[in-house]
Amino acid sequence: MNIDQLRSELLERISTTDQPREVLKAEEIKQLYAVIPTLDPSERGPHGKAVNELKLALESAVAEREAALEDDAIMPLDVTAPWDVNTRAPHLLPTEQGTQHPLTRELENVIDIFTRMGFEAIESRQIDDDEHMFGSLNFPENHPARDGYDTFRTEEGFIPPAHTSTMQNRILKDGKAKLEAGGQIAAVSYGRVFRNEDVDATHEHTFYQCEGVFVSRDATLGNMLGTLRSFFEVYYGQKLKIKTQPAYFPFVEPGLEFAIEKPAALGGKPGEWLEMLGCGMIHPNVLKSAGIDPTVYRGFAWGGGIERLVMLKYGIEDLRHFESAKLQFLRKFA
Ligand code: PHE
Repeated sequence: MNIDQLRSELLERISTTDQPREVLKAEEIKQLYAVIPTLDPSERGPHGKAVNELKLALESAVAEREAALEDDAIMPLDVTAPWDVNTRAPHLLPTEQGTQHPLTRELENVIDIFTRMGFEAIESRQIDDDEHMFGSLNFPENHPARDGYDTFRTEEGFIPPAHTSTMQNRILKDGKAKLEAGGQIAAVSYGRVFRNEDVDATHEHTFYQCEGVFVSRDATLGNMLGTLRSFFEVYYGQKLKIKTQPAYFPFVEPGLEFAIEKPAALGGKPGEWLEMLGCGMIHPNVLKSAGIDPTVYRGFAWGGGIERLVMLKYGIEDLRHFESAKLQFLRKFA
């Protein structure tokens, strides 16, 4: 093998190994030195020069490769890292990979429970229109009930939804054929919602909701209460006392607020009720706006915040922790 061939082979080896310095000890290099005494004196000069050049090229390739390996070992570039990536990482994260955010994990848990109960899960939209936010949900134009869902609006008139109920009309329309084939609609939609709120320990402008929609020929309010009770008992892993009280939402009739008694195991006292969500029998106008005949089919719907569920489960006292990116908080869920 001539020196040029050898050079490209060794450079290739250096660029692919984690131990580049070892390549300098290659047998082929030793051979280049070993042959010197056997060469004709006139060849020794040029040979020696070529060997030297080879050595210098290999050494600089080794140094470059070592520097690159060291950079990789420090860490890949992470623009979200809460420290200067050029200094060695303090041991801030719970694991090298990080972990799921507690809200993501709990939302998956919630969806899992409903999926096992036979509900299909659909992510809600983060930008929607007036018809889905209000019109199809039986909010008349200029009705004061719209004020309860004060959210934001883009210049083009699009709306970051104030609740996951914006998905109801789509779920109903998509499920109509199933109903007419003798089946039922059973879906939950989940996702981020937005409200024009002053932020404090119990209010955020951005939060998560999960909504359920069920329609069949004979759905009853009792079916809804049973469904919700089962969900909460599975989620909190214990028997619960529940109660409802009348509430007004334009898209249900009757409308209810659903409360559970705060379990003793989670620091509750008897008679301490927590309102968990809004619910009710789907208003005939909402069924009609999806082309479903309310004289034949009936349904129920509910919707509530995810943060509230999680705060109760883990005794979190301030909603703002969730979006704070505080590692001290997040590490508790690692
Ligand atoms: N969308 C309502 C809210 O966010 C909750 C709700 C959903 C009430 C479905 C009734 C039925 O306040």
